[in-house]
Amino acid sequence: MLFCYNNSGDKMTKDRMNELIEILNEANYNYHVLDKPTITDAEYDNYLRDLIIIEEKHPEWKREDSPTVRVGGAVVDGFNKVTHEIPMLSLGNVFNEDEIISFDEKVKKVVTNPKYVCELKIDGLSVSLLYKKGRLVRGATRGDGITGEDITHNVRTIKTIPLKIKEEIDIEVRGEIYMSKASFNKINEERKSKGEELFANPRNAAAGSVRQLDSRIASKRNLDCLIYHLPNPIDYDIHFHIDALEYMKNLGFNTNYKNNKLCNNISEVLEYVAYYTEHRNDLPYEIDGIVIKVNDLEEQRKLGFTARTPKWATAYKFPAEEVLTKLKEIKFTVGRTGQVTPNAILEPVFLMGSRISKATLHNEDYVLSKEIKIGDIVSIRKAGDVIPEVVEVKKERRNGTEKDFVMATTCPICNSKLVRKDTEAAYYCTNKHCPAKKIEGLIHYTSRNAMNIEGFGDRIIEDFYNMGYLKDYPDFYNLYKYKEELMELEGFGSKSINNLLDSIEKSKENSLERLLFALGIRYVGSKNAKILAQNFKNIDNIISATYEQLLSIRDIGEIIAKSVFDYFRNEDNLNLINKLKEYNVNMNYLGKVIEDEDFVGKTFVLTGTLLNITREEAKNIIEEKGGKTSSSVSSKTSVVIVGKDPGSKYEKALNLGITIWNEEEFASKIK
Ligand code: IVH
Repeated sequence: MLFCYNNSGDKMTKDRMNELIEILNEANYNYHVLDKPTITDAEYDNYLRDLIIIEEKHPEWKREDSPTVRVGGAVVDGFNKVTHEIPMLSLGNVFNEDEIISFDEKVKKVVTNPKYVCELKIDGLSVSLLYKKGRLVRGATRGDGITGEDITHNVRTIKTIPLKIKEEIDIEVRGEIYMSKASFNKINEERKSKGEELFANPRNAAAGSVRQLDSRIASKRNLDCLIYHLPNPIDYDIHFHIDALEYMKNLGFNTNYKNNKLCNNISEVLEYVAYYTEHRNDLPYEIDGIVIKVNDLEEQRKLGFTARTPKWATAYKFPAEEVLTKLKEIKFTVGRTGQVTPNAILEPVFLMGSRISKATLHNEDYVLSKEIKIGDIVSIRKAGDVIPEVVEVKKERRNGTEKDFVMATTCPICNSKLVRKDTEAAYYCTNKHCPAKKIEGLIHYTSRNAMNIEGFGDRIIEDFYNMGYLKDYPDFYNLYKYKEELMELEGFGSKSINNLLDSIEKSKENSLERLLFALGIRYVGSKNAKILAQNFKNIDNIISATYEQLLSIRDIGEIIAKSVFDYFRNEDNLNLINKLKEYNVNMNYLGKVIEDEDFVGKTFVLTGTLLNITREEAKNIIEEKGGKTSSSVSSKTSVVIVGKDPGSKYEKALNLGITIWNEEEFASKIK
């Protein structure tokens, strides 16, 4: 039978299914993009119900652009890497009117009478959407700009992202996925009532949602998307950014056409900025600034790029906001290094879209210098991603009940006596077995730049530690033995445990620098870990390196060299490494090995356009091979790499007699 019936007895054929998909997708566009609903909610629900009936009867007919995919269902094992053919750049920042004007002046050195498009800077995460023959085939995160992650399964659940556009063309568009203030508040209310941890702000909530393996979670988070960039305008014969926005809107994309504005000069830009500085709180979503883009795409081309950002656009960032609240209490926490930090526990307040209930007080000297007392009314500031901090005490609001701050003398977790290091303001718990230090260390081991073990939240690690499953790093690799037991724990299913164990297994193949960083050797951050791994190639070479050998490495100073040297003289640390080896954790550097005399220790300057490689790629290669890059030519420059249409840097290099390579020579050196 090629048809079934709905409750009203209508025939439900494949043609009807196709028709319903068209009706619902069109209704979606009218509602979400144009803000002009054409059918009632009840009609929409009826059509959707009929579509579900047909699809359930005939799963073989189901189309990928059916609006029913928005309820989620697709689950992935992990995130595939995606390469952005045109890098996804970020923007330079300006912070006040003077800086906006000097941005305009720099633009005017290259073009006359530039016009600008002003847009709201939505506080979410950027996304690239790829359509083939008019159908959504891929959604990807920005990642590092070159390599992002495939999040198609979650992107498909976002109702403001069309699954099918109005023309059957191939196109990539870029925009911002975000969560509205209303959805953020609703989701946090729900989480609160379930005793779950609250999201700090809408951006974190959105980012956390698209990084879920199971698309049903993202589908419930009510995410949205606004499109603001067309990477390949020339392919569509488009010459102005404002036209690109209009074109994308007509294709069915949700552009911010009501708030975007074409400004004829910088005074109009300043008016736009002033308007939204005042009205940002009236918007249904968080914005953290205004994006200013040169409208003429030919002018954009002339202006070009710096290493990381376009010169034809900038982001004006709103100033950090401050609010007043009561400091209720000061609590001490212990970090991975044993450092004990005082934290202000605050009466919760909303600040820049985040609910703030804690602020760092850094150390004893900080609290004393600001004369902070418990019970004070304090002003709190938060700039961007940074942890909120106490700006000042409102002494005039004191009523005499405030209590003096006293620095802890013993560890709040294990009670050992704290030690203040001579050179630092901080106090440390020096107990090697302090549980707080251990837990923080385990959390660090799994973190993104360390072993990148996914599926562990801080709480799970703490619980596993307290239950005895995890005491030290090698225990991660032993967890599989307790698989059955772990699946019995509340909140875990076989799927989450399997994912966790898979991710642990995968971490064994990480390149050495991740392990070095994960071990938590003092002063060895991810950058120093990479330098050590590149130079020594495997852990045994690092273990046997003398202090002098460590010190001889470029960028490794005395403090780092001593810390690394001491770490590997400690018996417990060596035992730990041996245990990890027994679990087959990789101890070799897997990246490119430096051996290139043309690059090691030299400083490079790039000028002009490179035709076969992006600047960012060239920079990365130079750094991988042991060179440094700089933006200006001086007598310290070793080589200037010259592309097409080089600027004044080329002349300066000629005057100073500096070695010059053209793109071909550079290519032959990196072969
Ligand atoms: S344009 C080359 N426009 O801000 C073009 N970005 O700080 C680059 N953002 O990574 C982006 N709203 O995630 C652009 N209207 C807007 C934006 C916007 C938010 C984000 C985006 C970008 C970051 C740059």
